[in-house]
Amino acid sequence: MKRTVIAGVGHYVPENVVTNNDLSKIMETSDQWIQERTGIQERRWVSAEGEDSTSGMGTKAARNAIADAGLEPKDIDFIIFAPLSPDYYFPGPGVQVQENLGIDTIGALDVRNQCSGFVYGLSVADQFIKTGMYKNVLLIGSELHSGGLDKTTRGRGVSVIFGDGAGAVVLQASDDQSKGVLTTKLHSEGKHAKELALLGPATDRWVDRIIAENDPDDMSYYPYMNGNFVFKHAVTRFQEVILEALADVNKDASDIDLLIPHQANLRISQFVQKKMGLGPDKVFNNIMKYGNTTAASIPIALSEAKQEGRVKEGDLLCLAAFGSGFTWASALIQL
Ligand code: COA
Repeated sequence: MKRTVIAGVGHYVPENVVTNNDLSKIMETSDQWIQERTGIQERRWVSAEGEDSTSGMGTKAARNAIADAGLEPKDIDFIIFAPLSPDYYFPGPGVQVQENLGIDTIGALDVRNQCSGFVYGLSVADQFIKTGMYKNVLLIGSELHSGGLDKTTRGRGVSVIFGDGAGAVVLQASDDQSKGVLTTKLHSEGKHAKELALLGPATDRWVDRIIAENDPDDMSYYPYMNGNFVFKHAVTRFQEVILEALADVNKDASDIDLLIPHQANLRISQFVQKKMGLGPDKVFNNIMKYGNTTAASIPIALSEAKQEGRVKEGDLLCLAAFGSGFTWASALIQL
């Protein structure tokens, strides 16, 4: 059986920085409120409609990851794209990356698991690689939230949290059994589907009726989040799914060299860090700079961690995510 190793990582974020003080000029909020509850200081939002896109940012991150792996686009033999915010309702952005990179007609799969999408995608790629079906899988997490947020006081409970950006990895088949993806754990609990969701427009709601009603107060076009409820579930599930992965490979928390949690909220990451008995140097956080970029948050963080020398060969890397669905997931990777 092959092993799945991370051969290259890359990210891309839009240039436009939006600080908490910038937000306080367009809605009733404050730097203090946002920092105290989320740790976020600023985020990137594309500055104008059409300037960038989920597939476009994903393509840029992908090019960086492919270069980091010392490969060329033609070496990729499968694409997995994890978006919460695709350019189009359908098709998903995987096919746009295939076209943008000028790759032959290889397969492109979209994984729709929101904040857990990257770890779900990693697990899917791992199965394809282990069985020998593909050699170089390009896995992308990319999100353009800013075009879909309610940026008025009405939407402040959600809009201050989310940011735009993309991250990507090239996952590669290896015969070296001492490294690579050791395990992945995936979970879902659909009874909480509406606690963090964007319900319309969708096939569940008749589009001709939506158009006929044309209701400016129809909030279903915007993401909804039951923040306190999500928070409570997140802190429990993060810890649970990390411990499940560790137990599967006979390791414990003290074996983790770096935990990269999905960047949902700094308070969630800090809570998990304390509960797991990890030192602050064992957890990577960059939500302060980017906000919550859902499926893109882990690969952006991984790319920055590599640039900063926070991950090195021989390290045990743990990835963990929780989000809409609810879905949650973890991965342990021996670098
Ligand atoms: N600025 C100022 N005030 C705000 C605000 C903002 N951006 N957003 C909400 N408020 C107000 C609310 O209207 C409410 O006012 P009220 O008491 O007068 O009704 C008050 O602040 C408290 O709101 P609440 O939602 O209870 O705050 P909170 O302490 O639970 O923090 C979150 C809200 C969203 C930051 C927090 O619940 C959270 O981080 N949840 C998890 C979110 C998450 O991780 N999501 C992604 C998972 S993948």
